Amino acid sequence: MRDEISVLCTQHSKLFNMSYQLLDGKKISGQILAEITEEVKSIKQKGGKQPHLAAILVGADPASETYVVSKVRHCEKVGFNSTLVRYNADVTEAELLKKIQELNENKDIDGYIVQLPLPKHISERKIIEAVSPQKDVDGFHPLNVGRLTLNLPTYISATPYGIIEILKRYNIPTEGKNCVVLGRSNIVGSPVSILMARNGNPGNATVTLCHSKTKNLKEITKQADILIVAIGKPEFVTADMVKEGAVVVDVGIHRFTDSSKKSGYRLTGDVKFDEVAPKCSFITPVPGGVGLMTIAALMKNTLLACKGEIYK
Ligand code: GUN
Repeated sequence: MRDEISVLCTQHSKLFNMSYQLLDGKKISGQILAEITEEVKSIKQKGGKQPHLAAILVGADPASETYVVSKVRHCEKVGFNSTLVRYNADVTEAELLKKIQELNENKDIDGYIVQLPLPKHISERKIIEAVSPQKDVDGFHPLNVGRLTLNLPTYISATPYGIIEILKRYNIPTEGKNCVVLGRSNIVGSPVSILMARNGNPGNATVTLCHSKTKNLKEITKQADILIVAIGKPEFVTADMVKEGAVVVDVGIHRFTDSSKKSGYRLTGDVKFDEVAPKCSFITPVPGGVGLMTIAALMKNTLLACKGEIYK
């Protein structure tokens, strides 16, 4: 009887709103952080080394400040040691490179990040390339990006890691599925397209990577069994772009002032949630989706660095 109902619902999905399930980033990141906390406890009990993450923050950009403070706070929560190195926005590139050299040589620090963006007078490329690949827990160094492409052990950067892990923990089938990625950034779109296509689980999807020069975008997104949106445009994806039953992952996060909210603002993603969600089988909310997974990913990479599991 249940099967008959579900067949009827599938046949008439255009008439009935399909019920969707949220991909709950809060729940999954909480699970990952709890697993890390347990492992750190066990390492310490056995007399092993406490993982140590360092972060460099340049300038006083409020968003960067919030992110870095949250990263450091999470270190305490999972039992890591942490070091925050702050510089004024006028720090020279040479000074920053000197600090990076110091962190590369400091045996107690397992991994570190340089929060981006950096002020215009500093070359992000030079800074990223100066970080020791062994300590590059952001996974931004070209060697780690290359290892990702070759399906070798590497530090997977936080957002792609978060997307892959949430799909994995919800047992979303990816093999043989059409996956469409919107956005080709170095940090999200490009690496997640590689991860979804590679021979693994999640993976083995047929991936189409769309960008600003893509033609007939709607025709392509409507083919997606899995749609990953990292385009950086608020509420860009509308219901007419999405197939019934699709899995939608929204990486965007945009803040708008809203006097009706207690906080004075509301957050929205790259997907018009209210109209898209009823068409989906699964969808990530904003907030509470991919964003929360990124901190868990950084903690996971720091633990891997401490255990020396990527570069043996
Ligand atoms: N700026 C925005 N996202 C990130 C991130 O994941 N790592 C660093 N270092 N900077 C960022």
